[in-house]
Amino acid sequence: DNSVDLKRIAILASGKGSNALTILEYFSASKVGTVVGVFSNKMTSGVLDRFIDRDQPAYYFENNSELLEQLESEQVDFIVLAGYLKLIPLELITRFPNSIINIHPSLLPSFGGAGMYGMNVHKAVREAKVDKTGITIHLVNEEYDDGKILFQKEVEITPENSAKEIAQKVQLLEHKYYSQIIEKLVNDEF
Ligand code: GRF
Repeated sequence: DNSVDLKRIAILASGKGSNALTILEYFSASKVGTVVGVFSNKMTSGVLDRFIDRDQPAYYFENNSELLEQLESEQVDFIVLAGYLKLIPLELITRFPNSIINIHPSLLPSFGGAGMYGMNVHKAVREAKVDKTGITIHLVNEEYDDGKILFQKEVEITPENSAKEIAQKVQLLEHKYYSQIIEKLVNDEF
């Protein structure tokens, strides 16, 4: 069967896991990669439960060495960050060169860097009175939100849009595009 040559994808998440679930669904039908499970440093953020509810592998880890052990034992090829808030240690970057991907909910380099995650991003966008925002999908290096940009998509916003409405517009883009960009990376198309 072709399951032997599918690339093995680990999802790292610390939040609700809506992106993680979208990616799981997408790759259940992929001929390129397979999701081996979700890995989280947060026991109660929601993402582990969403995978457990679907009888999918869900790994909790206390620290980076535990995470590395789990990734090695699962023979992971690619790491997808989906709302993972901690900095990725250099050890992981060097172990998975050009194989760690992240999505950021703004048009980097705008509204990026330490502390810029989740609603903080959309509140800053709201306050800056810009007329568009969007998503940035990029490779991960040792700096926050600084790796090679693989994909960006814009969405118009109006002065009437609240930060919550901006978040909703951006999340639609996340769920629509992230999986296909991950598949292109896994399929060595970049
Ligand atoms: C999203 O804002 C995404 O852009 C960022 O973290 C959040 C993840 O949300 N990487 P969810 O937990 O997948 O719903």
